[in-house]
Amino acid sequence: MAHTVMEHVRDVLVMLAQVLYYWLVAIVRAILPASIQGKDISGETVLITGAGSGIGRLMAERFAKLKCRLVLWDVNDKGNEETASICKGYGVSVDTYTINLCDREAIYKLADKVKTDVGKIDILVNNAGIVTGKKFLDCPDKMIDLTMQVNIMAHFWTVKAFLPDMMTRNHGHIVNIASSAGLIGVTGLADYCASKFAAVGFDESLRFELMAQGKTGINTTVVCPFFINTGMFEGAKTRFPFLLPILEPAYVADKIVEAVLCNQTLLALPRILYVFFAIKGFLPHSVAQVLNDHLGVSHCMDNFKGRQLKAD
Ligand SMILES: NC(=O)c1ccc[n+]([C@@H]2O[C@H](COP(=O)([O-])OP(=O)(O)OC[C@H]3O[C@@H](n4cnc5c(N)ncnc54)[C@H](O)[C@@H]3O)[C@@H](O)[C@H]2O)c1
Repeated sequence: MAHTVMEHVRDVLVMLAQVLYYWLVAIVRAILPASIQGKDISGETVLITGAGSGIGRLMAERFAKLKCRLVLWDVNDKGNEETASICKGYGVSVDTYTINLCDREAIYKLADKVKTDVGKIDILVNNAGIVTGKKFLDCPDKMIDLTMQVNIMAHFWTVKAFLPDMMTRNHGHIVNIASSAGLIGVTGLADYCASKFAAVGFDESLRFELMAQGKTGINTTVVCPFFINTGMFEGAKTRFPFLLPILEPAYVADKIVEAVLCNQTLLALPRILYVFFAIKGFLPHSVAQVLNDHLGVSHCMDNFKGRQLKAD
């Protein structure tokens, strides 16, 4: 039956009241510290990919401090075992698995094994990532393939594997580690940016899809940090460190875990990125280019060395 004018007016008023309510909630949440509003995740099982180094390891340690049971995945078994031994020091149970996230069937098989060995996953952190760090035409095809497989395709497969149990229980949290390069394009990072924009889009769509299905007990968080001092982006530089500092890994890990505790949907670090992201939406591209050049984004990868990954 066609809606009457009064029904349309009522719908719009309800929508405006909701907008106002959720806006106020968001402001209060942005102000309150995690110690007050944070949820209790002790006893929950957290799976982290890429746990063998960098922020994966540091997040694992923080979840261990919060008394979570850990499932650690990495292609680097030595690094993964080192992370596990650090975490076991907090008296929690830790299971490590060696996996190459480029292999979809291996992910599904390992996910089944984890469900048998450990049980259901409460918090899934898609963290593993790689970067080519070359201008697009210099990127070997193999590295572009690997970048897409690790940085985004693996997110699809892990979520497909673990989300169904979360849906059944209407309980869980999916964390997708993207990058500031998932919000703003960067010279020398075309393949990496494509993978990280995809991770941001995947996270947002998935969140809306879950909300539309009434799965309010399942949260998602997408993380978009600027360069972090882990070695992955060795040699990359920032022109204005006071505005866009190279971030300390411990700080980033703290903020990610806080974001999980507070069910924050988007975490951008440093905070100025929220401003850049917002103004990008209404600036003409030519103006954005001038700003990019001035902020050094056009040349930040000129001296990139990274971890010297090889395609073979
Ligand atoms: N370092 C930065 O400047 C920076 C900035 C923004 C976002 N990020 C993102 O943060 C995440 C973690 O980065 P990091 O700096 O800790 O990097 P890192 O290189 O220290 O850690 C990445 C981990 O992923 C693992 N890994 C890589 N390929 C894999 C594969 N095929 N299968 C399984 N494991 C694999 C590695 O072994 C490593 O332990 C990545 O997704 C990265 O894109 C990093």
